[in-house]
Amino acid sequence: MKKQIRIGLIGYGFMGRTHSNAYSQLDHFFDTQHVPVRQAVCGRNEEAVKEFAEKWGYASYETDWRELVKRDDIDAIDICTPNNSHAEIALECIKHGKMVLCEKPLALNGEEGEAMVKAIEESGLPNLVWYNYRFLPAVTHAKNIVAAGELGRIFHYRANFLQDWTISEDLPQGGAALWRLDAAAAGSGVTGDLLAHCIDTARWINGNIVSVSAMTETFIKERVHQETGEKQAVTIDDACSFLARFENGSLAIFESTRYARGHKALKTFEINGEHKSLSWDLHDLNRLSYFDHGVPSDRRGWSSIHCSDGDQPYAGNWWVPGLCLGYEHSFTHGLYEFMKSLDDPSAEKQYPDFRHALGTQYVCDAVLESARTGQWVEVKQS
Ligand SMILES: NC(=O)c1ccc[n+]([C@@H]2O[C@H](COP(=O)([O-])OP(=O)(O)OC[C@H]3O[C@@H](n4cnc5c(N)ncnc54)[C@H](O)[C@@H]3O)[C@@H](O)[C@H]2O)c1
Repeated sequence: MKKQIRIGLIGYGFMGRTHSNAYSQLDHFFDTQHVPVRQAVCGRNEEAVKEFAEKWGYASYETDWRELVKRDDIDAIDICTPNNSHAEIALECIKHGKMVLCEKPLALNGEEGEAMVKAIEESGLPNLVWYNYRFLPAVTHAKNIVAAGELGRIFHYRANFLQDWTISEDLPQGGAALWRLDAAAAGSGVTGDLLAHCIDTARWINGNIVSVSAMTETFIKERVHQETGEKQAVTIDDACSFLARFENGSLAIFESTRYARGHKALKTFEINGEHKSLSWDLHDLNRLSYFDHGVPSDRRGWSSIHCSDGDQPYAGNWWVPGLCLGYEHSFTHGLYEFMKSLDDPSAEKQYPDFRHALGTQYVCDAVLESARTGQWVEVKQS
């Protein structure tokens, strides 16, 4: 008999849809004893939230998240709202004994994140942060290759997350859909939004980051705020580049911007070791590029592994070799890891929890401090 985990979803925008898709797919493709049930969704607009509930198969809806977190028929709350609400909602969930699945970044800053970690760890409640890119087969495969020690000593890590959607001066900031451009709602710009993903992947594959030196820029200084109708100073970072040192002695360079004309979502990483190198690109997400110096020199070169065979992470649960998975599958795989850990709480967790996400938050904080002060900054460890 499977055990139902009754989910209460808060926020039904972009992430609300990716998570709802994962809740509806999991039990068809993966075998876990705990299975999600779409119990309720919460949004502030009654007509819109009702329509979402019907479309995505939620049994009920609420218009106030405080009512949702109090309900006895909810086991886990999924937080898919802007960043400035994560801490408040999570702390309330914990008070009401709910498991928490929270979108990234964990919080607006490390201080908020620490309060969340303290509360959740004292409660003993299961918790996850949706750093989903880890769960793409090619990214997990890269992690496994590095964890097996195949690269030998690691020298370099480099990562990008490039977009081009905020170049127009006429784009407003704040309010629905554009809260990312308002530091009060987002905490920061590309650092918390995009680099946080790169940092999570990097820490997972290559270990802790110990120090950073960063620069940021806000190219458009003022934008009309959607909520006030007034032109206001833009306080997010439009672009951020930073150098970093890892605990294992390797050096890194990270870059993110929303001003790289021609790039929609170019998320990449490359890692160079003594024996091998690996690289990956979100635009071709099923492939992992692989260079092996052990191959005789006249046959040596970069190869491209299509991570769709049954022996690749997660791929065997889907279609047949050679057929592609997409962005959305990363959420189903993350959810699978979470449900699996409910099946066997003693097993090592294969997903980022609040404490892992706090480590990423500390790197983001150090990056922003370094950009402000022009100094190298030591990263606090979680
Ligand atoms: N893991 C990823 O790849 C990824 C991608 C995008 C966004 N995110 C994160 O997910 C979160 C949501 O981002 P999004 O892109 O889905 O935003 P969105 O703007 O598409 O959706 C946000 C939703 O929250 C709702 N909301 C806001 N305040 C609310 C409140 N007080 N009560 C109830 N609902 C409320 C909005 O109405 C909307 O439905 C953010 O933290 C963001 O950083 C993660």
